[in-house]
Amino acid sequence: MDVVVVGSCNIDLVSYVPRLPAAGETILGSKFSQGFGGKGANPAVMAARLGAKTALISMVGEDSFGREYKLDLIKNNIDISHVGATSKAATGVAPIFVNESGENSIVVVKGANESLTVENLMEAKDLIQNSKILLCNLEIDPKVTLEALKMAKSFNIRSLFNMAPATTGLDEYFQYCDILVINESEAEIITGMKVPGVEEAKTAAESVLEKGCQVVIVTLGENGAVVMSKGDKEAVHVPTPKVQAVDTTGAGDAFCGSLAVFLATRPELGLQESVYRANKIAGITVQSPGTQTSYPQWKDLPPELFGGEKLLKDG
Ligand code: RIB
Repeated sequence: MDVVVVGSCNIDLVSYVPRLPAAGETILGSKFSQGFGGKGANPAVMAARLGAKTALISMVGEDSFGREYKLDLIKNNIDISHVGATSKAATGVAPIFVNESGENSIVVVKGANESLTVENLMEAKDLIQNSKILLCNLEIDPKVTLEALKMAKSFNIRSLFNMAPATTGLDEYFQYCDILVINESEAEIITGMKVPGVEEAKTAAESVLEKGCQVVIVTLGENGAVVMSKGDKEAVHVPTPKVQAVDTTGAGDAFCGSLAVFLATRPELGLQESVYRANKIAGITVQSPGTQTSYPQWKDLPPELFGGEKLLKDG
C-alpha cells in the first residue's frame, strides 16, 4: 500500500443555508444533500482518486448506511479488508450546515466509529507495516489513534496526524507523530493563542513543534499554509492561488489525502512543494458542492500537478 488510513466513515447530511443559524433560531435552507464523508474515509478517497494504492481501517454499522458505504469505498478502489461492521452502534453521521460563503459548521455523531478497537488495529498490523504512510485523525476512539501512531513509529512508517476534532490534553500524541496537520481553530485549541493570520500561525507552529512532532503544518484556507520542520529556524508560509469557494466541507481532508500521496509517491518534490500541490487540489474541491463528490480524479487535474517542474515560486 502507498497510503493506509485509520479513521472514520460518516454519512454527511448537508443543508445549504444563507447563514449559520444562531442558538435557538430556526432558519430556512435552500437545498439538502446526503453523501459519503468522515475524516478517515475522505483522505482515503482523495488518495485513491489520485491513483495511490490505498487501504482504510474503519468501522461502520450493520445498517443500510454501512452497507452503502462499503460498496462506495470499493467503487473508489479502496482496500476495505479492514473495514468492519458492528451491530453495537449505527454508522457515524455528520449533520452539516454550509452558508453562502461556502463556510460550514459540522456536528459528528461517531456511532460505529467508536467501536473500532485496538484489537482491530492489531489485525491490520501487516497492512500498516507494508505501507508508505499512515494517516489518522480523532473521529474514532482516541486510544486507537494513539496506538496507530505508536505502531507506525515502531515500524518506521511515516505518519500524518490530522488532529481533528482537536481537544486539549493530547500531549502524548505529539511525540509519536511525524507530520501534524491542524487548521487555525485547531491551532488555537492546542496552543491557547489566537490564530487570525499567517504571522500568528507561524508562532503557533513554532510552539506546537516544541511538543515533539517532526513537522507541523497549519492550514489557513485561502491563505495557504504554514510549514515548519524540526531544526528549521522559522516557519515558512506556502501561499495558494485564490479561488471562489462554494463549499469548503472536506477540503482539509482532501489536503491531507493529497499530501500523503505526494509524500509517499513523489518524495523528491520535498515538503513545501508537496504542501503547495496538495493545497491546489484542496482549492479545486471547494469550488464544487459536497464532500467526496467534489474530489477530482487525477486524470481531471492539470498535468503539471504531477510533473517534475517546481510550481511553488520562490518568495
Ligand atoms: O472534514 C469534513 C468531514 O468532517 C465531513 O465529511 C464530516 O463527516 C466530518 O467528519
